Amino acid sequence: MNQIIHDLEFELFISDSKIQERVKELGAQITRDFRGKELVLLGILKGSFLFLSDLCRAIDLPLEISFLRISSYHGTQSTGEVKKVAGIQDDLAGKTVIIVEDIVDTGISMDYLLKEIEKYKPAEVRIATFLYKPDAFRFKYALDYVGFEIPNKFVVGYGLDYNDLGRNLPELYQLVNFQSNKIKMRNIVLFGPPGAGKGTQSEKLIKKYGLTHLSTGDLFRKHLGEGTELGKLAQKYMNEGRLVPDEVVIGMVEDKIAATENSHGFIFDGFPRTTTQAEALDKMLESHQMEIAGMIALDVPEEILKERIKLRGKTSGRVDDQDDQKIQTRIKVYLDETLPVASYYEAQGKFTKINGVGEIDEIFDAISEVVDSY
Ligand code: IMP
Ligand code: MG
Repeated sequence: MNQIIHDLEFELFISDSKIQERVKELGAQITRDFRGKELVLLGILKGSFLFLSDLCRAIDLPLEISFLRISSYHGTQSTGEVKKVAGIQDDLAGKTVIIVEDIVDTGISMDYLLKEIEKYKPAEVRIATFLYKPDAFRFKYALDYVGFEIPNKFVVGYGLDYNDLGRNLPELYQLVNFQSNKIKMRNIVLFGPPGAGKGTQSEKLIKKYGLTHLSTGDLFRKHLGEGTELGKLAQKYMNEGRLVPDEVVIGMVEDKIAATENSHGFIFDGFPRTTTQAEALDKMLESHQMEIAGMIALDVPEEILKERIKLRGKTSGRVDDQDDQKIQTRIKVYLDETLPVASYYEAQGKFTKINGVGEIDEIFDAISEVVDSY
């Protein structure tokens, strides 16, 4: 049964019996590896309390139990800052210390712990972690005993919490995705230089396929209209005809996706503009069990683009549409930085080029044919 904890819904991920079976295996392994050693299990509070209690009973050796309490998480995101809440009271000098953790995520906490424990002069230090998220891990140290490797998704249960609740669940649960993966989504990157007709074609695609328009330009302008700090920052870059930094963009995109329910897919318009952004987008989507179906590029020669942009500038009032120099800069930025994105999707077999010169409906029919194939 799904669990509602605070505002979030979690689904069963690893059963009680699977956990127990795995912990017994780890216990047997530790029993073989440390016979004759002066062994201390150092439980990291609070998260490891269940793992530690099951693990210690699965180890058939004399051992001591010690605790250290640290804290680093708030909500479902690591704060990246580790705080020691209660230090070690026991003598670890000359002993074999196994750090017992609930989870190694970014690895920041464990990195801190390894340094902290060195101060107590143990003979050797090993790591036993119930869970490990290899995709989030940023360090090089070895993890000696790992219960389960899991994807980079937030989990609760068996000691792990979401804002202090969920630790007493005997099973492990993972966050339910905010986008339902029951409906097949068509997530499309619509691609083309400024003036290629992305806006017009997007509108038609939205109507026909029930998609949601996701234009980073629009998102920035919305933030600007509302006077947010993010908006002011974005405007500074946009006025100069430059790209807005990736972290800002990805954060805004993820927010927008999270706030949209039951969409049949998103049209990414004006984003991603670099391969770095494309990779970050893939990663972010993957964490929500979503993916890009394909990229469609509208192909329009440079001279026609310049004419179209200037014409648009007369009616839209957009300052960046009216100045020759700024138009030139935007086209150059597009050519230099954005074209590699096409190769990125081409390498995945997800790239289609469409002739963007001609009647709007003609161009739309050509696009529809591609979208139907997704
Ligand atoms: P790290 O420093 O990023 O490796 O994070 C380690 C700590 O963050 C763990 O000891 C947990 O308290 C917490 N944590 C990391 N991922 C999760 C999760 O998916 N659910 C609950 N807590 C987590
Ligand atoms: Mg913890």
